[in-house]
Amino acid sequence: MKLEQFAMERLQSTYENQVEFNLSESGVRPLTPREVIEDSAGCEGLLDQPLVYTQSNGTVDLRRAIASMYPGAGIDHIEVTNGGSEANFITTFNLIEPGDEVVMLVPNYMQTWGLSRAFGGTIREWRLVEDHAAGRWRVDLGALDALVTPRTKMIVICNPNNPTGARLTAAELDAIARAADRHGAWILSDEVYRGAEIDGAETASMWGRSKRVIVTSGLSKAYGLPGLRIGWIVGPATLIASLWSYHDYVTIAPGALSDRLARVALQPARRARLLERTRGILRSNLPLIEEWLTAAGGFHWIRPEAGAIVYVRYHHPINSTELVTRLRVEKSVLIVPGDHFGMDGYLRLGFGEPPGYNRAGLDRLRELLSTLSAGRPAEPALRPQG
Ligand SMILES: Cc1ncc(COP(=O)(O)O)c(C=O)c1O
Repeated sequence: MKLEQFAMERLQSTYENQVEFNLSESGVRPLTPREVIEDSAGCEGLLDQPLVYTQSNGTVDLRRAIASMYPGAGIDHIEVTNGGSEANFITTFNLIEPGDEVVMLVPNYMQTWGLSRAFGGTIREWRLVEDHAAGRWRVDLGALDALVTPRTKMIVICNPNNPTGARLTAAELDAIARAADRHGAWILSDEVYRGAEIDGAETASMWGRSKRVIVTSGLSKAYGLPGLRIGWIVGPATLIASLWSYHDYVTIAPGALSDRLARVALQPARRARLLERTRGILRSNLPLIEEWLTAAGGFHWIRPEAGAIVYVRYHHPINSTELVTRLRVEKSVLIVPGDHFGMDGYLRLGFGEPPGYNRAGLDRLRELLSTLSAGRPAEPALRPQG
């Protein structure tokens, strides 16, 4: 089995802790355990947590808390994983076999892209439409109908979407479910940004719209807790039982401290506070980044509806990977190139950090871009002959 490199994660893993300004993240500045627990007795309790293997598919209390967010789900519909990434991994590992087709909404987080291909599947791209007139990235349901066939094993969506921040409506999700049901396909809906909506209106979930729906999610983005490495899968009980046996091979169990902190984070009042903190950061930072983009000029974007990312089209004469490399090397700022989503000419800018930090990183991007717009030659000048 040959794994292609997961370009965006490789870039982040290599450089995110080396640059002065990391604007490659898609979530808000993470919390500490003290900020999650909020009281000293609770913090002491965490220190007394035995570092055992806890229930390997997630403690019953944690699975109960997760199940309560998905109407009709019980603890047998939930598998707790190490991050949303393990959730996506074991689902794809379990379902995709050579010859299968996977219809994938793009642009997207490219994990299931690389994994489906590694397991012998073929990707059929379903492109989001950049509809400036409507002011949103929208799905083309006619195109989906043409892509889904009896060979389709799985339809992959990310809602809210990474990298565009677009949010699909309940009616669009119903139409996707109908397209999947016509051919018996599974739907993998990655909802890790759900809860991080700027207007506070929670994104509709795919859960409950078909018998073959799998939702993956976790605490990394909307909750601001990526270092906990807690994710989950919601699905039919028989599939969940099978996925648990795949989890045995990959990580066995979530960390005992993480399972405990996740139970705290998902207590209803705390959960509401964590999500409100995230939305508050997004609401105050998004106007600042939009002001910056307008003032800098040369950018086009559709306002994201969720997540701490804005996906911008730029018009400067430089390839996106080259621009990102120069920005990192010359200015110590990390952002994500559109190339990593198969879309040169775009950049994904994270704005989840404090405003001064975002601004300082962006100002360095402007400095670099100004040298390009000033007509710097794209090719090195030819040496005089003779
Ligand atoms: C859509 C999506 N799914 C999953 C992940 C992985 O999340 P986690 O940190 O929970 O493994 C990411 C991370 O960027 C993501 O954007």
